[in-house]
Amino acid sequence: MATVEIRNLRKNYGVLEVIHGVSIDIEDGEFVALVGPSGCGKSTLLRMIAGLEHVTKGEIAIGSRVVNDIEPKNRDIAMVFQNYALYPHMTVAKNMAFSLWLNGVSRGEIQKRVERASQILGLESLLERYPRQLSGGQRQRVAMGRAIVRDPMVFLFDEPLSNLDAKLRVQMRAEIKELHQRLKTTTVYVTHDQVEAMTLADRIVVMQGGVIEQIGSPIELYDHPNSLFVAGFIGSPPMNFLKGTVQGGDLPSLMTNEGLALRLPDHVKGLAPGREVVFGFRPQNLTLDPAGMPCEVIIVEPTGSETQLNARVGSSSISVLFHDRVQIRPGETVNLLPDLARAHVFDGKTGRRIE
Ligand SMILES: Nc1ncnc2c1ncn2[C@@H]1O[C@H](COP(=O)(O)OP(=O)(O)OP(=O)(O)O)[C@@H](O)[C@H]1O
Ligand SMILES: [Mg+2]
Repeated sequence: MATVEIRNLRKNYGVLEVIHGVSIDIEDGEFVALVGPSGCGKSTLLRMIAGLEHVTKGEIAIGSRVVNDIEPKNRDIAMVFQNYALYPHMTVAKNMAFSLWLNGVSRGEIQKRVERASQILGLESLLERYPRQLSGGQRQRVAMGRAIVRDPMVFLFDEPLSNLDAKLRVQMRAEIKELHQRLKTTTVYVTHDQVEAMTLADRIVVMQGGVIEQIGSPIELYDHPNSLFVAGFIGSPPMNFLKGTVQGGDLPSLMTNEGLALRLPDHVKGLAPGREVVFGFRPQNLTLDPAGMPCEVIIVEPTGSETQLNARVGSSSISVLFHDRVQIRPGETVNLLPDLARAHVFDGKTGRRIE
């Protein structure tokens, strides 16, 4: 196991810079998820840690050894790719043994490690099969087995679950979590799925356009997003936003662009009258209340355990999530009150959080 330190990392492809100075300190044994929209630089960053991409500027240290100029195979890492990249002409057992054999590990030791990994992953009965004779989930497990047998200092995952169907993804997600709890190997896990990041990681790094937007524990990011971007990215369904201008008066309030007056949270300082702000509240933090804002219900989606509404406030659309069944029909107008203790305010120009 090892720490991973990333200092002022930059990456250019030709003249185009795609990573603009990224720093992350990953603790020994920590599980860190890199999330962000497509093209934000997650894979590039991970591939630089793996040594598959050259570092343009900055430094990467694994276990306090700078690895910028060290070959991937000597970095003591193991990577699991989205497409698994199994050798089609080798059995499951050989797929797992191959890298050990290349590194000159003894036959007895190889057998021991393959046995242990296949026990951990429940692959014992599949060792003599070929990849084409496996389901997607089983292939995914073999790819993890190949990483486990190497007993590396760091695991690197690049969207390892994105080829699986929704149900299997949830199952494999739990398996990866259990695996990390058992092995406690430092892990960097790339995903564009914020739920996956929230459920797996000790800390999440939210990236956008080659820079870090915020680093924090799942709950920190959920409760205190630093920017509109993070607020909209973390949480499902996404946070609702209403734009407007702060009003004068005893209690802080907002006049939305549609002319609706709304109370703002008391705990937020620096709300001078006239300041343009964005008021943010999560779909889960709305209640039916006569004092709430009038909303026209557009869509009602019951799932059995919850009811999700899509509603219109002026010309803005918001979503609402009730952890219950509600008797509301499309076309009705309901009054919805945001929980101010859990609401957020962002600067209208910069998108930064106002505390
Ligand atoms: N070999 C390359 N040459 C030029 N540009 C590249 C190369 N590889 C990646 N890029 C660019 O670098 C940026 C980051 O790409 P990267 O693959 O890291 O994104 P990502 O966050 O992993 O996205 P996704 O979620 O779609 O996998 C993108 O704009 C991409 O077009
Ligand atoms: Mg990628």
